[in-house]
Amino acid sequence: MKTKLLILFGGKSAEHKVSMQTAKAVMNAVDLDLYEVHPVYIDAQGTWNKGKRLEGKVEDIKALEVHHETTSLSPFSLANEEESQVVFPLLHGPNGEDGTVQGLLELLNIPYVGNGVLASAAGMDKLAMKAIFQQAGLQQVKYEGFIRKDWEVEKPEVIDRIERNLGYPCFVKPANLGSSVGINKASDRHALEAAIEEALQFDRKIIVEQGVVAREIEIGVIGNDETSCSVVGEIVPKTEFYDYKSKYEDGDTALIIPAEIDSAIYEQVKEMATTAYKALDCSGLARMDFFLTKNNELIINEVNTMPGFTPVSMFPLLWKHSGVDYPSLINRLVELALERHEEKMKIKYTVE
Ligand SMILES: Nc1ncnc2c1ncn2[C@@H]1O[C@H](COP(=O)(O)OP(=O)(O)O)[C@@H](O)[C@H]1O
Ligand SMILES: [Mg+2]
Repeated sequence: MKTKLLILFGGKSAEHKVSMQTAKAVMNAVDLDLYEVHPVYIDAQGTWNKGKRLEGKVEDIKALEVHHETTSLSPFSLANEEESQVVFPLLHGPNGEDGTVQGLLELLNIPYVGNGVLASAAGMDKLAMKAIFQQAGLQQVKYEGFIRKDWEVEKPEVIDRIERNLGYPCFVKPANLGSSVGINKASDRHALEAAIEEALQFDRKIIVEQGVVAREIEIGVIGNDETSCSVVGEIVPKTEFYDYKSKYEDGDTALIIPAEIDSAIYEQVKEMATTAYKALDCSGLARMDFFLTKNNELIINEVNTMPGFTPVSMFPLLWKHSGVDYPSLINRLVELALERHEEKMKIKYTVE
């Protein structure tokens, strides 16, 4: 019997478009002899829509954007008696990569690919993530966090704290987002204020980090309790930093795989990535991103619990160079989802 694979994509998130690209790529790579694929499109308003069962290749992303009354679907109706059903949430950013959808799937008791509630939520919130990384002894950039209310009532104090503790240039980010949306580099007070105002449009929580001059290297991790690491890749953006445009529009950011780094550094990246994975209690997959300074100092930047996943994205490419091609990666992630679910089914929920 084929495993029924429900692919969730789109989403009420600034990363909606990115998710559409990923969904198309995954649907065109899954082995239809192994899986019965059912697309579930979540539109920009957050309505779930049931697409037609996949019969062949998806030529046009537009064909995946089904949203009319007849297709709308209650997320709760995903639960059914079918044993061999797995959900693959290909959602980036809030309302998908942040533990909300994972919580729903936990309640419905459906196996799903990737990280659980805690890792997803903590990985999405850069302040929570940094607190956990700090506790795990991982080297990070200096940072400051605050909420909208702080900005409204004590703006001069907030600015003063940033200037004293971090200085310029600094990076202003919405705490809960990805794909560089709402992120700006500020080199003076005027730019800092503008950057904060912009970031506040995307979140009520802001993180400001000291800017570092460093190479950007990334590694893939897959697994549940036992993990494996991919080779390391390097990102060389043509723009001033790896912003939204350079990620998705220009297409001329160079990805160097494997990155040219010493083997001792590679070992250290693997060790730090594994520590980070365990500290966040990740499962399934994650991409861990680092800064490597001129003095060979390794600094963890962030985790992505649902990394970019098109065949030309860093995560699948890292695995390809590590001997796991795109369709095999999908199969492995589904296996890990089932393994995690089986373990959950052994948990006792009653006491005598
Ligand atoms: N502290 C920093 N110093 C230097 N560059 C940074 C810093 N933080 C972010 N950047 C640049 O901005 C990009 C996006 O930041 P990141 O924290 O990875 O956000 P996202 O979750 O949106 O990917 C990074 O890939 C890097 O190019
Ligand atoms: Mg990033």
